[in-house]
Amino acid sequence: MHTKVLQVDPLDPDEAAIAQAADVIRRGGLVAFPTETVYGLGANAFDARAVERIFVAKGRPATNPLIVHVHALDQVRQLASQWPEAAQRLSARFWPGPLSLVLPKQSALPDLVTAGGPTVALRMPAHPVAERLLGAAGVPIAAPSANRSTGVSATSAAHVLRWLDRRIDLVLDGGTTPRGIESTVLDLTVSPPRILRPGVIGPAELGEALDGEVVACDPAALQPAGLLPRDEKVPARSPGQMSRHYAPGVPVECRSEDAEARVKELAEAGRRVGWLKLGACDSYHLPGVECIAMPAEAAAYATRLYAALHRFEELGVERIVLDLPPVGEAWLAIHDRLRRASFGL
Ligand code: TXA
Ligand code: MG
Repeated sequence: MHTKVLQVDPLDPDEAAIAQAADVIRRGGLVAFPTETVYGLGANAFDARAVERIFVAKGRPATNPLIVHVHALDQVRQLASQWPEAAQRLSARFWPGPLSLVLPKQSALPDLVTAGGPTVALRMPAHPVAERLLGAAGVPIAAPSANRSTGVSATSAAHVLRWLDRRIDLVLDGGTTPRGIESTVLDLTVSPPRILRPGVIGPAELGEALDGEVVACDPAALQPAGLLPRDEKVPARSPGQMSRHYAPGVPVECRSEDAEARVKELAEAGRRVGWLKLGACDSYHLPGVECIAMPAEAAAYATRLYAALHRFEELGVERIVLDLPPVGEAWLAIHDRLRRASFGL
C-alpha cells in the first residue's frame, strides 16, 4: 500500500490532519512530518515496537541512536535523568529550535531509542506542524531524518516518498522545510560541552548563551570539505557520524577552483555531470551537464543543498562536481555535510 499523504498548511495545519497523524503515532505507526530543519520520521518514543519499525524503514543500523522530540519542557523529565544548568540556559535561548541536547537518559525510555547507550538526544522543534503533532500525540516522538540510512535527508514530502513510500504509514506534507540542514547536536554530558554534529546553530552562539564557556567541536568537523585527508582518522564521538553520510547515490567531487574545467573534462569524456555551482548557471549549456545555481550566502545555501542533491539523483547524473563554498563559521555545517557527501572519492 502506498503511504498516505495529507497536505497541511505549514503555518496553520488543519486540525483534522494533525489528529489523524497523532492517532497513527499513538497506535504505534510511523509518520513523516516537517520540522524547521528537515523532515523527521516519527514514532512514539516509549513504544519500542514502533521505534523498531523506524530502524527497519530506514535500513538504519541499531547502533545509531535517535533524537527524541518534545512538545514542552515538562516532557524532558520522562526522558533525561539530569537537567544541568547548561541545558536550562540553552533550552531557554534556543528551544523551540534546531538544537539537540545530549543528556543522561531516563531508564524508562526504551534502549532501542538510544542504541543501548546511557544518553539521549532531545530537541523541541520549531515548526507549527511538528509542534501541533507533538501536542496532539501527547507523547515524545523519536524521529531521525526521513530518508534511507546514509542517504540525503528529505526537505520535502516528495523526497520522503522517493525512498520511504510503502515503508511508512503517513506523511504530513507541509511543503519544503525552511532551514534545510539538520540540527546541531551538542553533548552536555562532557565538559566543556561538545558539538557532535555541526548544524544550524554555531559554536559562537552556543558559547555566548553559556556565558563564554568554551564549546568544543570534533576536530574533523572544523576541516573544510575537500581538504580533509581521505581517511578520516578522528574517532567518531557520535555513533551516527559515520564518514559517508548525507550522501547521494552519485559520487560527489568538491573543487576549490577548477570546477568548470573538471565539469568540461567529464562532459567531454561522455559522462553526465551535475554541477552544483556557486552563482548563476546562465552561460553553461554544455551537453550532458546539468547545472544548479547555489547562493553565496550560507543559510540560503543550506536551504537548497539537499533539494539539489535529490534533483541530481533524479536526473540520473553519473557524477556531481561542486564549487567549494567559502570557509568560516557560517559554513561549518555545510562543509561537514559536503565532506560526508564526498567521502571516499
Ligand atoms: O534536525 C534534526 O536533527 C532532524 C530532525 C528530524 O529533528 N533529525 C535528525 O536525526 O537529523 P538523525 O537521526 O538523522 O540524526 C541524529 C544524529 C545522529 O548523528 C545520531 O548519531 C546523533 O544525532 N545522536 C542521537 N542520539 C545521540 C546520543 N544519545 N549521543 C550522541 N549522538 C546522538
Ligand atoms: Mg539523518
